[in-house]
Amino acid sequence: MASCITESHKVHSSAHKRIHERNDFEVEPTEKQRITMFSEKPVRKSNKENSLCNNIMTLKTKETQSDNHKKHEKKAPKQEKVKHEFLDKLYEMMLRDGFMKARDRNEKVLEFSHPEDLKKKIDFELGSKTSDEKILSLCQDVIKYSVKVAHPRFFNQLYGGLDEYSLGGCWLTETMNASLYTYEVSPVFALMERVVIDKMLGKIGFQDGDAMFCPGGSISNMYALNIARYFQYPEVKKKGLRGIPEICAFTSEKCHYSIAKGVAFMGMGLDNLISVKTDAIGKMIPEDLEKKILEAKEQGMTPYFVNATAGTTVFGAFDPIDEIADICKKYGLWLHVDGAWGGGALMSKKYRHLLKGVERADSMTWNPHKLMGVPQQCSLIFTRHKGLLEQCHSANAAYLFQQDKFYDVSYDTGDKSIQCGRKNDVLKLWIMWKNKGDEGFERDIDNQFECAEYLAELVKQREGFELLLEPECTNVCFYYIPERLRGKERTDEWWSEISKVGPKVKEAMMKAGSMMVGYQPDGQFVNFFRMIVSNLDIVKSDMEFVVDEIIRLGKDL
Ligand SMILES: Cc1ncc(COP(=O)(O)O)c(C=O)c1O
Repeated sequence: MASCITESHKVHSSAHKRIHERNDFEVEPTEKQRITMFSEKPVRKSNKENSLCNNIMTLKTKETQSDNHKKHEKKAPKQEKVKHEFLDKLYEMMLRDGFMKARDRNEKVLEFSHPEDLKKKIDFELGSKTSDEKILSLCQDVIKYSVKVAHPRFFNQLYGGLDEYSLGGCWLTETMNASLYTYEVSPVFALMERVVIDKMLGKIGFQDGDAMFCPGGSISNMYALNIARYFQYPEVKKKGLRGIPEICAFTSEKCHYSIAKGVAFMGMGLDNLISVKTDAIGKMIPEDLEKKILEAKEQGMTPYFVNATAGTTVFGAFDPIDEIADICKKYGLWLHVDGAWGGGALMSKKYRHLLKGVERADSMTWNPHKLMGVPQQCSLIFTRHKGLLEQCHSANAAYLFQQDKFYDVSYDTGDKSIQCGRKNDVLKLWIMWKNKGDEGFERDIDNQFECAEYLAELVKQREGFELLLEPECTNVCFYYIPERLRGKERTDEWWSEISKVGPKVKEAMMKAGSMMVGYQPDGQFVNFFRMIVSNLDIVKSDMEFVVDEIIRLGKDL
């Protein structure tokens, strides 16, 4: 350490000396330039000379600065030549095949291979150095054999599509490679995060509050479980579970599995996660919540947390937040809204009523990488309780979060997080939002909901299809009944045959590469199709394609 200081001091003072010797400042520099030039004393020139010099002053100053850099560079080790050619070719390939072609409806969604075959097609092994040519051909294979989630017929998961501005944001993110813990290493993104967070807090309806970008909705939900526990039992941070009562949490039987993972991860034990019944369309039944809270109390447990889901993973149901908030208020419980999936509805005047009462929650998870079409990953945990994230998670690492820095350290947000290094997930969202504006996002959210509603209508009208339930979000769940099974008595055997349709049609669509739609069983329902509309480029004719393609692939089953 000591030798470093001496070295840099030497470089600095010799550069200073050289600048003095050169004596090449021709006009009086501004205050700013003076500082840049190590407080060099200017030499006065005539007016004529001055005006001439004025014209070239900026340029000259730049030259001088760059000269200074060059002088420093002489001392620095030689920089390895950057392989522009490699990057140029890769960029061209990504743009052409990874982006443009991947979004083309005439192209395949995937080129399926079984794992053993894929191992033969791509040389995955590592060892000796590989030529650029070979690496580029491997990159081409990466694109070829990867699923094109940007394709307008990728309906498999709760994310999809690819917006050019956000893709640009991703590329810029990777280029800048910032870690978002301190303002000193990520000044631009620290300010950007704050703007985006404030904007989204406003959409939720939290008057004040705070948020943190997290690596996915599961982690955001875990944050909620953790800050809620700390809020009620701050001693848990020091004493752990031994220092607090046996607390329990409540969530619906249709919630995302990350709630269970979180409870287990936090050492509360799965026995302390209480499942609340749902109605016929998958919404939490508030009366059952209250009943379960009272039962838990009778058993000596201490209720502390209720999770309401805004857009369940399979059915897309929105729990009745307002009614759940009343119960939470009555029993003094933390209300978390898992809006990882359905949170995007808050961008739409037409659909935000689905989250009515969300402004009464204590925290909310919202994944812009789902309904809002931002590339993965982009998820946030919001809380109305300002300062809580920091109090709960801070470890005050002295090497990062010095309080005696020369700038406003409230922009050093890293200690609010459970991570140290944290990826920049804000830029791609910010760029996309800049391009679309609020209205653009609203239009895209509305379009996705309207496409899902249109598909539900098609399913109701077309022969051989049966809708499981009216969609609330953009999940459309339905059966396809092949001709030979239509009009038959619905015995166990019949249902067993129906349960084979989903897997068989799925296999056929993946082998054809024509589209991807998920299937699964749920509760009393045997395997059904769960079609997800989560792509900002989708149009109604894509919905017609889904129905026609299932008929084509499943007609002989
Ligand atoms: C309701 C809900 N919550 C949380 C998650 C988890 O989000 P992530 O996949 O970003 O971890 C999901 C994922 O689909 C979800 O549907």
